[in-house]
Amino acid sequence: MNFHDSERMAGILETEGYSLTERPEDADLIILNTCSIREKAEHKFYSDLGRLRVVKKKNPEVKIGVSGCIAQQEGERIFKKAPHVSLILGPQNLTSLSELIEVDRRSSLEDRPDYAKAEIPTRRLDNIKAWVSIMYGCNNFCSYCVVPYTRGRERSRPLTDIFREVEGLSQAGYKEVTLLGQNVNSYGRNLEDGTDFTELLYRLHDLKGIERIRFVTSHPKDFSERLIKAMKELPKLCEHMHLPLQAGSDRILNLMNRGYTYRDYKEMADKLRSEIPDVAITTDIITGFPEETEEDFEKTIVALREIRFDGIFVFKYSKRPNTSALLLPGHLQDEIKAERFSRVLDIQDYITLEKNRGIIGKNIEILVEGKSKTDNDKMTGRTRTNKIVNFIGNIESKGKIIMVKISGTRHNSLDGEPLDFAQGKPL
Ligand code: 5AD
Ligand code: SF4
Repeated sequence: MNFHDSERMAGILETEGYSLTERPEDADLIILNTCSIREKAEHKFYSDLGRLRVVKKKNPEVKIGVSGCIAQQEGERIFKKAPHVSLILGPQNLTSLSELIEVDRRSSLEDRPDYAKAEIPTRRLDNIKAWVSIMYGCNNFCSYCVVPYTRGRERSRPLTDIFREVEGLSQAGYKEVTLLGQNVNSYGRNLEDGTDFTELLYRLHDLKGIERIRFVTSHPKDFSERLIKAMKELPKLCEHMHLPLQAGSDRILNLMNRGYTYRDYKEMADKLRSEIPDVAITTDIITGFPEETEEDFEKTIVALREIRFDGIFVFKYSKRPNTSALLLPGHLQDEIKAERFSRVLDIQDYITLEKNRGIIGKNIEILVEGKSKTDNDKMTGRTRTNKIVNFIGNIESKGKIIMVKISGTRHNSLDGEPLDFAQGKPL
């Protein structure tokens, strides 16, 4: 979401005559777009901001801005801590950027109920796959999470605006869109016309040129049968569901205010797998939430073994300002959080490897995204289930959907051999 917000700020700035540079020393304006989901992201921001002091010293004309969730959370306190900052911009206030660059030491941090209706120019950094925000904010108030405080109340963009944006992408040659929201299953809840998420999917599916549609993130408590039906009926909708579980213990899920039990979750996962062959389910796990006992934690391990996710993101619980989990007794020491964190990683690594081994030898469709980041001689693409496949091929295959035979598995990716050839050479 932040990556895409950066694309939008770059789009706004382009309309103001700015262009992108890779080197801070060459810039007239530098904006740090920040995340405050965990404390670690905040630390990183403060060290980056410290480094920019040097840039400002060398070039006093440069304007430095802070946007995103830390900007919202800390507000004008940032001016006090860091006098070299000249503008502060909250995540609902991107459209104020044009005004803020004209003045010095001003902030824009208001709650903007009409932000969902704004049309914001976007400078996209990729030309095959595109991110599209469909809603902002969150109403769930999971007890550990800062997002409802920094991004505000949940608001959906009108369907016609989203449709127009994706139509533009299809005309510009994009092949894949990922619909973004903190909780996409509740898309439309605040819209007067009764539109819901599946309706949006059916509408977007008609657009020619777009070959794949993805979405993140779904919340288990709003998971619907209609979504499974849409996945069955819509060939462009990829068979991948990121469905954050967070913990395996019902007591902890309740303290987290997640609104489901492990059993509810397991039933959803089973249903998805029985109805959508080869669907990939990925998840988020938090270790060391306050009051998590060894017994509670072992339920997370059981969940990993029972569900066998295709991939997980795991986080150590991090204390966030304003959140109700701060008030819970029984905060755990970092060593316990870290020890549980590595146990989760070890188990999941084993499961991922085992699952990936199971696809060796299979022929799978991938969308080629470009050159591999780790090996310049290789191209890289993704399966419909969002797994990365690297293969020896040429640059002309970029943007094409091709078939590969999976030949090996690595830590975070698969190796493949193209089965599609042009003039005897692999695509
Ligand atoms: N501590 C640890 N992890 C967190 N997440 C959100 N807030 C916190 C926190 N305070 C994780 C959740 C969420 C993902 C985006 O980040 O797992 O699903
Ligand atoms: Fe945070 Fe929960 Fe909202 Fe996700 S659903 S953004 S974890 S409050």
